[in-house]
Amino acid sequence: MKEYPPRIEVVGSPGAVAERAVAIVIAELRDRQPVTLGLATGATMTPFYARLVAAARAGLISFHAASSFNLDEYVGIAPQSRGSFHAYMQEHLFRHVDMPADRARIPDGMAYDVATEATRYEAQIAAAGGIDLLLLGIGTNGHIGFNEPGSDFASRTREIRLDEATRIANAGDFPDRASVPRRAITMGIATILHAKRILLIATGPEKAAAVAAAIEGPIGTACPASALRLHGNVDVLCDESAATALIDRPHTNDRRRA
Ligand code: GLP
Repeated sequence: MKEYPPRIEVVGSPGAVAERAVAIVIAELRDRQPVTLGLATGATMTPFYARLVAAARAGLISFHAASSFNLDEYVGIAPQSRGSFHAYMQEHLFRHVDMPADRARIPDGMAYDVATEATRYEAQIAAAGGIDLLLLGIGTNGHIGFNEPGSDFASRTREIRLDEATRIANAGDFPDRASVPRRAITMGIATILHAKRILLIATGPEKAAAVAAAIEGPIGTACPASALRLHGNVDVLCDESAATALIDRPHTNDRRRA
């Protein structure tokens, strides 16, 4: 098992992380046409999408030739309802940019047969020629997408039972704890590792332990994000507070190159 240390960059604030991430995506959108993006949801991504939309409005980028695949969606939550990742993506990105709606894909959490939907989603990613640049956040338990600890590194898109820690972390998107879905459909770890390039972003002190485990802990299923060290083309972008538990901590605005 060959290990490839990711490129790590620490910047001063969540806003600076978002700006740097947008710069990377802008470069990708300009250099590679058509581009296929992998997209994530969550609070970490919100400032990133705000800046991406601002760049599109300013005419710096266009999504007309782009397509995208989101990482995951809750099972049993209607696309238009609050808390769904469909609703999140509409609100924060899709309704503001010129990407054709049929090229903005998200797994269907309302599918009658989730296993068939998972197979269909994998086939759709393959038919698009794979993902060029995949954006990732990280859960406090080290999850990527909704690949909870214990997820096999060979896993593909599938249904997964959410950890209680994840349900608690995401409870703010739902009226009460009991309404937080228990299951989701997520790209697998192998699906994620198949992307040509990966950009993981992490902000806030609550992510510090997960970032350190992913980058400096043992590579194994206990920390799904540690699988990223098997990829070879990964950037990790953190603000200072998310980098505090790293032993070999890069200086702010410093890049630790592989
Ligand atoms: C979510 C998503 C992940 C996301 C992570 C962190 O539930 N499934 O894709 O990266 O958990 O979310 P946040 O940025 O809100 O902390």
